[in-house]
Amino acid sequence: MKHGRREFLGSIAGAGAGLAIARLPATAGATTADAGPLKIGVVGSGKVGGTLGSVWARAGHQVMFSSRNIEHDRALAAKLGPNARAGTPREAAAFGDVLLVSVPYRALPDVGKELGELVRGKPVIDTCNPFVGRDGEIANWAREKGAGLASAELLPGARIVRAFNAVGYQRMGQVHTEPGRIGMPIAGDDEQAIELASRLIRDIGFEPVLIGGLAMGRHLMPGTPLAGEHTPEEIRKIASTLEQSKEK
Ligand SMILES: NC(=O)c1ccc[n+]([C@@H]2O[C@H](COP(=O)([O-])OP(=O)(O)OC[C@H]3O[C@@H](n4cnc5c(N)ncnc54)[C@H](OP(=O)(O)O)[C@@H]3O)[C@@H](O)[C@H]2O)c1
Repeated sequence: MKHGRREFLGSIAGAGAGLAIARLPATAGATTADAGPLKIGVVGSGKVGGTLGSVWARAGHQVMFSSRNIEHDRALAAKLGPNARAGTPREAAAFGDVLLVSVPYRALPDVGKELGELVRGKPVIDTCNPFVGRDGEIANWAREKGAGLASAELLPGARIVRAFNAVGYQRMGQVHTEPGRIGMPIAGDDEQAIELASRLIRDIGFEPVLIGGLAMGRHLMPGTPLAGEHTPEEIRKIASTLEQSKEK
């Protein structure tokens, strides 16, 4: 397993840490090739969760997929081999050192209730975007509050990092072939969660760029200046033009 991961990571070794708008924790610059595999619980194994979980499993991490359709998740895991498995959302939350939550925004209240205490204190990567047309009224509330802070309210106690919000899911599985070229803007308040998320982001070829605290998650959505693909330097430039949101 470790060997396979090294092979995958070989192409991204030396991608370098780069400078973030707000400084990433010192250890976030270490190449993940030197670090052990993480256990990742995926809640929502659709286009985004399925793609990211698959590339992380191929990179040597241990992944548990979950949704409300365990047969789908078992089939997905079976294709990936021993680094992947399927479970219920609660099993995935208990399994993960870090969780990827990737569901339609309207499902977040139910996910929060179902996972309950299991997410308290967990690093959570939040890809979820609120769209009124898809998600209804909750999307208005989340957009007004800011997507990161809204997710934090729906997943109480989770150490949330917003990431992967405005890049197409297909690209999430491709960027490891050109490591470090494309930046991934992230926002969060918890240093250790930011560090873990940064490791995982680098593992699949993106260079994380911390744009600020979780309140800045409001800028990490489709339709914002940071949406789409940018180099890390471009992200820093765009982020420097955004007013820092102070609310925690
Ligand atoms: N598609 C993109 O390129 C993209 C890019 C960046 C961010 N995003 C955002 O990321 C999130 C996921 O997008 P997606 O495109 O991956 O959506 P998707 O393909 O529809 O996948 C959503 C996943 O969530 C699961 N799910 C729904 N309700 C659930 C619940 N209550 N408990 C557990 N699992 C539940 C679904 O499975 P079941 O319904 O079977 O439970 C499915 O596995 C969205 O908020 C989206 O806006 C999408």
